[in-house]
Amino acid sequence: MTTMFDAPKGKFRGHERQAVWTEEPDPELSEVGPGTPCGEYLRRYWMPVAMTNQVGDLPYRLRILGEDLILFRETGEGKLGLTHLHCVHRNMSLEFGIIENGGIRCSYHGWKYGLDGTILETPCEPPASQVRERTCLGAYPVIEYKGIAFAYMGPSDTVPAFPVMDTFGDEAEDMVPYLIESPCNWLQVMENAWDPFHTVYLHTKAVRSQFIDAFAEMPMIEFFERAYGDFYTNTRRVDDFIWLRIHDKMLPSFTQNGGHFPMTDKSLYFGRNGLSRWVTPVDDTNTLVIAWRHFREGDDPRGLTNRDEVGFGTTDFYGQGPDRSYEQRQRDPGDYDAWVSQGPRNIHARENLAFSDRGVAKVRRKLRAAIRDVADGKPAPQPAVLFNNPIPTYGGDTLLRIPLQEGRDDGAILKEVAHKVAEIYMAADNLTGAERRAKIEADLEAYEATWS
Ligand code: FES
Ligand SMILES: [Fe+2]
Repeated sequence: MTTMFDAPKGKFRGHERQAVWTEEPDPELSEVGPGTPCGEYLRRYWMPVAMTNQVGDLPYRLRILGEDLILFRETGEGKLGLTHLHCVHRNMSLEFGIIENGGIRCSYHGWKYGLDGTILETPCEPPASQVRERTCLGAYPVIEYKGIAFAYMGPSDTVPAFPVMDTFGDEAEDMVPYLIESPCNWLQVMENAWDPFHTVYLHTKAVRSQFIDAFAEMPMIEFFERAYGDFYTNTRRVDDFIWLRIHDKMLPSFTQNGGHFPMTDKSLYFGRNGLSRWVTPVDDTNTLVIAWRHFREGDDPRGLTNRDEVGFGTTDFYGQGPDRSYEQRQRDPGDYDAWVSQGPRNIHARENLAFSDRGVAKVRRKLRAAIRDVADGKPAPQPAVLFNNPIPTYGGDTLLRIPLQEGRDDGAILKEVAHKVAEIYMAADNLTGAERRAKIEADLEAYEATWS
């Protein structure tokens, strides 16, 4: 007897949708090399490029924004230098150079360069040689700060002040750097932070609770624009409490989130961020996350964090890198699997953005406008110009005891509370340090009391 198969019923439009395979990435937002509009825009900002504990007594080769570079620590005062990879004499790589007092020397014919790329010596040339006056090595200014090397790779006549955020300087906490590389375009790593709804699914409902169970509740998202950068509130009801998780988002790629494993069963006024994080493009299809994890007294009463896991290529929360088997990544995917699997360069023409993607749509709009402004010759907005350092930020958690109110719609209450809390935070922008904290705490406590 012959077995017969009926044609399966259903849409099956694979053939009709084959056009997706010919769609292309958006070059304006994704190409970062020298001379590209996005690359020029990104070069207007200080960017982290390396963890300084990786820089030993040999030149450290790296690639940033499509440029091959070396980072080295000169032997005099121990300052860091960041220069183009190739010696300008006959292009030997300076990864084989000799690090000296005040600079680096090429090992082929001995040309010595200062930290700013000036040619200091050309020992094989006759004493009267003027060759060193004619050119220089490409070099970039570097700032070393709490274990991270930051570089400015833009025009030399517009070096901005380094923006120190209010969350950077607290001596009472540990700030532990980490760096993780992803084989994909920078934008998909950056956009993950503008996508608050993936927390509900990827981190909580998809397989298991990767952080805390309370993330399963769909958040109410409200955006707040500041003179420089935005923040948004993720507001959720957790029993008798309203929990606001607040995220800072500053273009081009700086973000600060809430605490990593916040407690959701008692009031918390102006808890602060679990990390301060940048996304630095290596080139169009490789990206670094460089961040500090913040460890503060009292932030982790359940002992879920582990500073020993934070460092080069690793951090102490799930799914940030390739440090799992393929099977584990399939069974329990994390952020890294989301952004890397979008492809080497995500193709926006293939996406179908929806209501929950308004953060992603917003950041693309803002980024495109900023890239075009720089291309039109306008200065890139710099946070350190708009504020006196340190720059006020908002990232962290607030929990207020506000039980369900009889006869009132809880969604309306969540929205009202989100706006009031944001207003309280913003009203203290002109204060710094303990003074700012004291005002925000007192105002939040007083506001919470109005609900009891
Ligand atoms: S190639 Fe570097 S000194 Fe000649
Ligand atoms: Fe995530």
